[in-house]
Amino acid sequence: MPDPISPFQMAYTDRGQGQPVLLIHGYPLNRLLWQPQIEALGDVARLLAPDLRGHGDSPAMAGPYGMDLLADDLNAFLDALGVTRPVVVCGLSMGGYVAFAFYRKYAARMNGLVLTATRSAADSPEARAGRDQAAETLRQRGAAAIVEGMAPRLLAPGTAAEKPELAARLREIMLKTSAEGVLGALAGMRDRPDSTLILGRIALPTLIIHGLHDQIVPLAEAQAMQAAIPGARLEVIPVAGHLPNLENPEAFNQALRQFITSL
Ligand code: MLT
Repeated sequence: MPDPISPFQMAYTDRGQGQPVLLIHGYPLNRLLWQPQIEALGDVARLLAPDLRGHGDSPAMAGPYGMDLLADDLNAFLDALGVTRPVVVCGLSMGGYVAFAFYRKYAARMNGLVLTATRSAADSPEARAGRDQAAETLRQRGAAAIVEGMAPRLLAPGTAAEKPELAARLREIMLKTSAEGVLGALAGMRDRPDSTLILGRIALPTLIIHGLHDQIVPLAEAQAMQAAIPGARLEVIPVAGHLPNLENPEAFNQALRQFITSL
């Protein structure tokens, strides 16, 4: 078991005032993913966007990065910043898996949940094998091969051709993930528990945001979570794939702003 990361070493952005919102990025990304939200929502929220261990500017250490361990890092991070007000936890994809772990362990410090481009199910046997295959690719060909494999599936079909600068920026963001970080996250995601059984017991205002053209997590996963979580709302973002907050920030920000101000 690796030592818990010191929260003081965790790279993060802390911007804005009001309702604290913990923004948890996906894999293999970092807090730069949240730039459009950090720039637009500071008038209603204190946006806290850390880099998970092994990602972005946070130090890498040997994995696996279990979802509970990542949730513990975030809990220590909030403690280190002296955040006592209940937080909205907003996780994208792997960040959503971490948000479920955070809910299981630290629901008492939450007052809202935002699940975006994510799923509650654990990996299928095929998906688990795919994680091991990706780890092998990384060992043989480096992190750039992982990035090249994922990049075409992250955005809605057609967006990379229409917005080459966005596709290039995304590659740049992903390439900041260390090899150790990729391996740690792959193992953590592979072994994560199924969160489907807790959905019916989630007793927090919940917003689900999903890109209409998500090629990594099908929209049906979001619809199933909405049906299972009492009172959950689902916002489907048009002209967006797996990263709706980057691809269609106006629609995403509007949905998130409305949720935050309704609490
Ligand atoms: C992510 O975007 O965080 C990952 O694609 C999630 C996954 O691989 O399950």
